[in-house]
Amino acid sequence: MMNSRIIGTGGYLPERVMSNQDLEKIVETTDEWIVERTGIKQRHIAAEEQSTCDLAEQAARQAIDAAGIAIDSIDMIIVATTTPDRVFPSTACLLQRRLGIHGCPAFDVQAVCTGFIYGLSVADKFIKTGASKRVLVVGAETMSRIVDWSDRTTCVLFGDGAGAVVLEASDQPGILSTHIHADGQYSELLHVPAGVSFHHAEFKSGKIGIQMQGNEVFKMAVNTLGRIVDETLQENGLDKSDIDWLVPHQANERIIKATAKKLRMPMERVVTTVQTHGNTSAASVPLALNVAVRDGRIQRGETLLLEAFGGGFTWGSALIKY
Ligand code: COA
Repeated sequence: MMNSRIIGTGGYLPERVMSNQDLEKIVETTDEWIVERTGIKQRHIAAEEQSTCDLAEQAARQAIDAAGIAIDSIDMIIVATTTPDRVFPSTACLLQRRLGIHGCPAFDVQAVCTGFIYGLSVADKFIKTGASKRVLVVGAETMSRIVDWSDRTTCVLFGDGAGAVVLEASDQPGILSTHIHADGQYSELLHVPAGVSFHHAEFKSGKIGIQMQGNEVFKMAVNTLGRIVDETLQENGLDKSDIDWLVPHQANERIIKATAKKLRMPMERVVTTVQTHGNTSAASVPLALNVAVRDGRIQRGETLLLEAFGGGFTWGSALIKY
């Protein structure tokens, strides 16, 4: 059976930066509170005319350039997003058009903050079975469009951005395993309680945004991520000390530190971007991966543990020999 290897990474953050001080002017909050509770100092916000597909395209082109491949050799496109440009077609189809690729399958995955791990898992399975050879997996979000900007308990947390990888079939080790889970019974703890066919009028009014029981989500995230770390190591017969880099979902520095502690990993081996990106949902893991690949921290041959937790609840991990 073939393995799938990451042959290129890319990322894109919109130009506009919103600092905690900027947020102090919008809701009753302080830089001190946000930094202490979340670690976030700033986030990027898409320009009015920028869509999720615009962000996805920038990240995708960077990943394709890094991979050094011809665009038309890509034979599958997966976009993980909670904030698609349109109800349909999928953002993946819109991205396919932008990239000038024709005929290959292109579809979106919706697993909120775990979306990229879901996308990676699907892509890996297609490559392992021989059905695909080169897959573009993108996580892209304009969370600023679904945030309730009058709710200080949530609006300080999120940001916009996109990250991407190109996966290629290889006889060398690459993605060692992926693990994805969901439990819909917790859907009300973190959600946008309206959509195309549910509370349609509220949805159309545009007034409904992200709602979250922060404390509950926090506890569930810490416990669940601890469990998935164990599951991933166990399946691969590895020890905590075999992991070179933890590349976690960037929701809250305190959640990241709890997972690192569980892995007995010093924070120097943990990639964190939450301070400057905020929570970019499906984009957060590929953005963090891209940062650490480009600044030279992550080297070929190292073992990476990617993990995420999000609305649904959904959660997942990927163990990668980079
Ligand atoms: N600025 C100032 N005060 C704020 C605030 C803000 N932005 N947001 C909430 N507060 C207040 C609350 O109203 C509360 O006040 P009270 O004690 O008078 O009622 C107090 O701060 C503490 O709120 P609490 O919700 O208990 O804080 P917390 O320590 O749980 O931190 C989160 C809140 C949201 C940062 C934290 O719960 C969290 O990170 N949850 C998980 C978020 C997450 O990861 N979501 C995405 C998963 S993908």
